[in-house]
Amino acid sequence: MQKELLDRFLSSFNLDRKLIKYDIEACIAWITTLFENKIIDKKQSSRLIKVLKNLKKQKDLKNIQAEDVHYAVEKKLERVLKKDKYLAGVIRTARSRNDLVVSDERMYIKDEINQIIVLLKNLISSIVEVAQKNLDVPMVGYTHLQPAQPVLFSHYILSFAWWFVRDIERFKDCYKRVDVSTLGAAAFAGSSFEVNRQKVAEKLGFLKVSENSVDSVSDRDYIIEFISCCAIVMIHLSRIAEELIIWCTPNFGYISLPKKLTSGSSIMPQKQNPDYLELIRGKTAKVISDLIGILVVMKALPLTYNRDMQEDKVYLFSSVETIKDCLRVMRVIFENLMVNAQRLKEDIQKHDFIFATEVANFLVEEMKYPFKLAHKKTQLLIDYCVKTNKKLKQLGLKDYKKIVSREFTIEMFEKLNRKFNNSYSNYKTFGGSSLPQVKRQIKNIKKLIV
Ligand code: ARG
Repeated sequence: MQKELLDRFLSSFNLDRKLIKYDIEACIAWITTLFENKIIDKKQSSRLIKVLKNLKKQKDLKNIQAEDVHYAVEKKLERVLKKDKYLAGVIRTARSRNDLVVSDERMYIKDEINQIIVLLKNLISSIVEVAQKNLDVPMVGYTHLQPAQPVLFSHYILSFAWWFVRDIERFKDCYKRVDVSTLGAAAFAGSSFEVNRQKVAEKLGFLKVSENSVDSVSDRDYIIEFISCCAIVMIHLSRIAEELIIWCTPNFGYISLPKKLTSGSSIMPQKQNPDYLELIRGKTAKVISDLIGILVVMKALPLTYNRDMQEDKVYLFSSVETIKDCLRVMRVIFENLMVNAQRLKEDIQKHDFIFATEVANFLVEEMKYPFKLAHKKTQLLIDYCVKTNKKLKQLGLKDYKKIVSREFTIEMFEKLNRKFNNSYSNYKTFGGSSLPQVKRQIKNIKKLIV
């Protein structure tokens, strides 16, 4: 009973069996190099490699109970090589689980980064597709969740795509620091066997070899950095989820979700709740907690290896699983959401104070007012609208003459009205909300995700 408890407590095999593929690759590269460097003989290396090559999958270790994946592989070797039981122990030469676990994890993270980048690119392209289908649909843009300025819907949602473009860059940058082999650092001091660590690294596809054996086994900054990248993606996903949740309320009605992407209520028959989006928002907590978790594990830990570090896998695997699922689900959402262009346009008419900035800009251009004065005059127009229950666009020349200036002419008034109607092509600054700028962005984003 007590033994069972203690064994279970010590073991990470339930989690790190995920690393089997990498552990075996690392063992094969290690044994090959031991042979090349004349530390073991040909017969030993070929027998071990032959057995290892047959064990690629988790199910191969099904009946093995072990402290961790590294011991499980060793145990399996012992079982297969029954008659030559001690041969399995050769893989321990000049190596320790301390340097091995780090290399396994680094290989695993490299593969996961590549997969996550593909998922990010897929999501970006589904966002771009929605933008392309709704290129010139106008919408109310918000600050403080208050109607602010008119923008193009395509421009608004393309901002999401740029978040993910930067997330890809962050992962690529993180990859460079993960791409380092620690094999040969052994427990922490290196070893007296002359193993060519560079050759081991090359066999495993690592770009670099770690330069300090103490550092190699002591740090988990590559996991902290990787989970940080994941957490940033999740923050982005949670904000998009929140935005879409708001947009699909009947009060906004900017988008709607097909039935398969909502779920009903057990009591209110009319309900179609955006549960998938809410879960993406909720699951963000997991990855943020994973980041805090690994940071707390590492905080103030003495050098070199400590068993605390075994817990790193809890956070690493949880983040990977969560981020990949959330990216996949968000993609399905973008591929299926329906944009209600009519509703978006109606909302602009309802909130036509969003054109106030345009009026102020116009007063700067035409009346040559300093912007602060133009702002003040426009505010007076808005106050007047509120008092008289009018829309900005309903004001007549008379109102402008009375509130802004007697010098406000009929020509100016007509010009301003033309401007109102064209307001979406007015934001022509680089990166602004005009059609040519949206088209330019789409072209550039597409180049980044090929
Ligand atoms: N399962 C361990 C881990 O993941 C492997 C390293 C064990 N090293 C040791 N000195 N006990 O951290």
